Amino acid sequence: MERSPMFTWGVSTSAYQIEGGANEGGRGPSIWDTFSRIPGAVANSHNGDVACDHYHRYEEDLDLMKWLGVDAYHFSFAWPRVIPSGNGSVNQVGIDFYDRLIDGALERGLTPWPTLYHWDLPQALQDKGGWNNRDCAQWFAEYAHTMAERFGDRLKNWITINEPFCSAWLGHLFGVMAPGIKDLQTGINATHHLLLGHGLAVDALRQSSVDFKVGITLNFTPAVALGDSDEDQLAVQYADGFDNRWFADPVFKGRYPKDIVAAFAKEVPIHPGDMQIISRPLDFLGLNYYFRQTVAYDREAKPLPYKMVTAPNVERTGMGWEVHAGTFTQLLKHVHNEYKPKEIFITENGSAWDDVVIDGKVDDQKRVSYLKRHLDAMFEAKDAGVPINGYFAWSLIDNFEWAYGYEKRFGIVYVDYPTQKRIPKSSAFYYKDRIRESL
Ligand code: FCB
Repeated sequence: MERSPMFTWGVSTSAYQIEGGANEGGRGPSIWDTFSRIPGAVANSHNGDVACDHYHRYEEDLDLMKWLGVDAYHFSFAWPRVIPSGNGSVNQVGIDFYDRLIDGALERGLTPWPTLYHWDLPQALQDKGGWNNRDCAQWFAEYAHTMAERFGDRLKNWITINEPFCSAWLGHLFGVMAPGIKDLQTGINATHHLLLGHGLAVDALRQSSVDFKVGITLNFTPAVALGDSDEDQLAVQYADGFDNRWFADPVFKGRYPKDIVAAFAKEVPIHPGDMQIISRPLDFLGLNYYFRQTVAYDREAKPLPYKMVTAPNVERTGMGWEVHAGTFTQLLKHVHNEYKPKEIFITENGSAWDDVVIDGKVDDQKRVSYLKRHLDAMFEAKDAGVPINGYFAWSLIDNFEWAYGYEKRFGIVYVDYPTQKRIPKSSAFYYKDRIRESL
């Protein structure tokens, strides 16, 4: 199975995490520029002003991808770079940057795989309520239309939104990501408007051409119970509902999970016809997997009565996330059976570790091991019949890890931030070999 020429090998990044050039080329501010200025919001007060300077060094980064031997580059467009006010005029300088990036990828034989929204909402739209405002779904669709018009001739795979879980819950309920709101109703509204925006964007893309595939990227975090009690089983049900079903059910089944809606005891702002738009048939599912969570029942916990706990004797990454490759196989089989996406692309998978440079080298054996085990786990699911047609490693290079700033390194290529020098880690060499062996 692994040796199929149909299988796409790639690497992933996202705009705010790598581009920098925050105040260049007419880019407007995003909610992450604002959020990262709030004292205490981001570790060490880091921000994405410079990041990996990919805005200027994209050719070097494309060369790295060519050296790796990947087929595809999954990146995201910065909405505020192309439409600085979110729904006003188009910034040609921003379009020119992505023209160069896309053409540079194609010249090197790399297929560009863009995501339209990886969390960097134009601040001007946040000022109008952001995803809490139903209009945001329409603004997003208009932006999608603009991008299809400009780039549809060269882009054959589109992803609408990356991980609505993080945008909705981490950004609007827990407030640990931009825009930093802590309110359940706002989180529910944001979910619905993000998903509506996704569906409207699918329509907008399809209106401009039929010659491409479109999907959404969802992150899945399977849960297991800490103990054997019925209550802990309930905790698993809630965790699965909150993290996974809350987003996948509307997209694939056209409805929110009843148990979670009931437990929230809030209104989801659904208008007639919304669920049909949200559940438009997709060409593929982008699936992100990082870790398994262990949960326990907790009557006091909000918004649902469970909490994530630190299970004993479990291998963990530098994020404290459980390493459990077997869960990845089970998850892929489950998603295939439950939601039946036509194709699945692993759009992100990877791990952070405390990398050190010794004699100019980064020997990240723990990342190599994580990568190897997760690739094996994925191919096990593929061999069992799950239609997985691509894998994109997160991430090509170390980058701005949101609220963790530059402290957490997920790259298979190390970035020495003071000099912006790129150093391929052992995991990059491993990935390169693995790709070559699969051909
Ligand atoms: C995912 C995000 C990505 C990166 C990885 C580690 O949730 O989509 O931007 O932060 O986690």
